[in-house]
Amino acid sequence: MSPVGWLVLLLPALLRRGSSGVAAAGKVPAVIVFGDSSVDTGNNNFIPTIARSNFWPYGRDYADGLPTGRFSNGRLATDFISEAFGLPPCIPAYLDTNLTIDQLASGVSFASAATGLDNATAGVLSVITIGEQLQYFREYKERLRIAKGEAEAGEIIGEALYIWSIGTNDFIENYYNLPERRMQYMVAEYEAYLLGLAESAIRDVHSLGGRKMDFTGLTPMGCLPAERIGNRDNPGECNEDYNAVARSFNGKLQGLAARLNKDLPGLQLVYADTYKILTSVVDKPADYGFENAVQGCCGTGLFEAGYFCSLSTSLLCQNANKYVFFDAIHPTEKMYKIIADTVMNTTLNVFL
Ligand SMILES: *[C@@H]1O[C@H](CO)[C@@H](O)[C@H](O)[C@H]1NC(C)=O
Ligand SMILES: *[C@@H]1O[C@H](CO)[C@@H](O)[C@H](O)[C@H]1NC(C)=O
Ligand SMILES: *[C@@H]1O[C@H](CO)[C@@H](O)[C@H](O)[C@H]1NC(C)=O
Repeated sequence: MSPVGWLVLLLPALLRRGSSGVAAAGKVPAVIVFGDSSVDTGNNNFIPTIARSNFWPYGRDYADGLPTGRFSNGRLATDFISEAFGLPPCIPAYLDTNLTIDQLASGVSFASAATGLDNATAGVLSVITIGEQLQYFREYKERLRIAKGEAEAGEIIGEALYIWSIGTNDFIENYYNLPERRMQYMVAEYEAYLLGLAESAIRDVHSLGGRKMDFTGLTPMGCLPAERIGNRDNPGECNEDYNAVARSFNGKLQGLAARLNKDLPGLQLVYADTYKILTSVVDKPADYGFENAVQGCCGTGLFEAGYFCSLSTSLLCQNANKYVFFDAIHPTEKMYKIIADTVMNTTLNVFL
C-alpha cells in the first residue's frame, strides 16, 4: 500500500489518540476502581484485617493457581472489563508497593473487601473507608502527574473509566447485622444516607477530573448463600426483604445518576444493572451452564467465606464453573465473566 494509503488508514487512530499519545488501546486509557470485595484485587493483603482471601482455595483457577486477594477462584468482573477495553487482563491493587506508577497507569483498584459507603461498615473489620480510597486516588493522580507530566496524566484521569461497586456490606454486614444503624435509621433513611455518601464520592472524583463513571447497582443480596441460610422465616430461600431493599436502593441510585448527569459538567455516569443479571442466573442457572446457584463451591457452601474457606478444603467442589458462587457471598469467575460481558454489551459499550 502507498504511504498515503497507510496515512489515511492511520489518521482516525491518530486523531483518537489525542495530542499526548495515550489511549492507544481505545478511548478508555485506564479502569479505576473503588469498592468492596467484589472489586478488591488484593488491597486487604496489605492492611491488618481478617477480611482476606490471599490463600487457597481462592485463586485456584487464576493464572498459576495463585491466590491474589480476589474473593473468587479466578478473575473479577472488573478484570474482564479492563480486558474488554483492550487494557491489561488483571487490574492491580494500589497498595501493592512492588508496583510502579507505570504499572498502575492503565488501571488500578483502590477497593477493600468488607468496606461500605458508611464509615461504620468499614470499621466492622477495620478495612479501608471510601474516604481513604479517595485519598489514595488523589495520591495516585499526583504520582501520575510526576511520572507522566501534566498533559498525559490529565488525559488518563479525564478519559479513564471509574467503576464503583459498593453498598452490599452496608446492609448485610452492618445494618442487618449490628444494632447501631438500625436504631438510628429506618431502612429508607439509611438508603438516603448511603446515597448521600455515594453522591459526595462521585462529586469528589468529578472535581478531580473524572468524567466517565459506572456505579454498579446492588445485586439480589437476599439470594447470597449466606443470606439464604440466615433467612429465619424461610430457611434456604432467598431473603426477599433484602432483595426488596436492593431494588429500592437501585431505583434511587438511578435517580441520583440522572440528577448528577444534569448537574455536573461533562459527567457521563451510567448505572450497571447487576441485579437483573444475577436474578436471571439464580432463577435459571442451567440456562447459563450452572448446576448450583444456592451453595458456594468452598466448604459446605452455606456460610464459609474468607478464612473459613481455607479450613474446610476437603469439601471444596471439583469444578467451580458449575457454581454461581465460589464462597457463601462471592461469585465464581464464570459468574463474574457473565456479569462483565453483559455489562459491556448493555451499559459500558457507550465508552468503547
Ligand atoms: C515484592 O517483590 C519481592 C521481590 O521480588 C518479593 O520478595 C515480595 O514478596 C514482593 N512483595 C509483595 C507484597 O508482593
Ligand atoms: C468518615 O471518616 C472520615 C475520616 O475519619 C471523616 O473525615 C468523614 O467525615 C467521615 N464521614 C462521615 C459521613 O461521617
Ligand atoms: C455480548 O455481545 C457479543 C457480541 O455481540 C456476543 O457474542 C455475546 O454473546 C454477548 N454476551 C452477553 C452476555 O450478552
